[in-house]
Amino acid sequence: MKATATAGSNIAIVKYWGARDAALNLPANGSISLTLDAARTTTTVRFDPALKSDALVLNGRETGGAALAHVSAHLDRLRAFAGVRVPALVETANTFPEGAGIASSASGFAALTVAAAAALGLRLSERELSALARLGSGSACRSVVGGWAEWLPGTRHEDSYAVQIAPPEHWDVRDLVAVVSTEAKAVPSAKGHERAASSPLFQARLREVEGRLPAVRRAILERDFHALGVLAEADALSMHAIMLTSAPPLLYWLPATVELIRQVWQWRAEGLPCYFTIDAGPNVHILTLPQAVPHVAARLRALPYVQQIIPCGPGPAPRLIPNGA
Ligand code: PMV
Repeated sequence: MKATATAGSNIAIVKYWGARDAALNLPANGSISLTLDAARTTTTVRFDPALKSDALVLNGRETGGAALAHVSAHLDRLRAFAGVRVPALVETANTFPEGAGIASSASGFAALTVAAAAALGLRLSERELSALARLGSGSACRSVVGGWAEWLPGTRHEDSYAVQIAPPEHWDVRDLVAVVSTEAKAVPSAKGHERAASSPLFQARLREVEGRLPAVRRAILERDFHALGVLAEADALSMHAIMLTSAPPLLYWLPATVELIRQVWQWRAEGLPCYFTIDAGPNVHILTLPQAVPHVAARLRALPYVQQIIPCGPGPAPRLIPNGA
């Protein structure tokens, strides 16, 4: 009863911010993302009756507390599905540093769901795996799908899951993650989702997203990078406007975040194809095209406040690694 799965994180072009049901992670709006190749989590799950309780080894370190509780709660859902009560050892590692502004919860819960389902011998469809991953972390449902993914918000557990808009090979858009801080965020996204509806701008954002979703879908299908980039920046700024106007307010940006926004606009004015997007943290994802990667990377390296650059491209759906490596 052992299986290993690897899954990529994802970067949202249209963001999930605000839940209509916090317990089920049903989102207030649909969202669209690109699953990433280089930012991955690999997880081995071994169900073993000899274990007293669940155990978690995260990047080589035995981990308890909230992280183990979150993983255990997720395993309980899969155990309930399979009708077993056996404890599990979960060993998980990321290819990227935690706190780097790459959602480890997205790749983490996608990999955990796929590995645990396989270890339990459950034969689940992509849709069922996506809905289950969503219960661990909302955005994880999009990481169960390769390439360009759309999360259909739904109104019940079964109909809130992600589907593929286009496979990874459809369009080689790159995401250079510019890390300006690796400190853990003070307010986790779960708390932010709860607070979103307190913003007087929230209903306006929901209306705006209704129009943005088809426009982003179209930009992806037509490989229109300028359209995609403009929409991605507008959506990131809209989500951060909700954060800034929530009660109490949330400000994830640092001075370096604002510097980078201005730099990206400057580089674009100079002719480089680059656009930014920012999740619930200070780090900046720079969307660009393959031929511009060396130029954007060189400019990023010249900025003293950029600590690290993590280059990513479109990634596949999670896959099982044979023999539980
Ligand atoms: O999946 P969560 O609860 O960590 O929320 C993700 C929130 C954002 O990363 C900011 C946006 C998104 O859609 O990925």
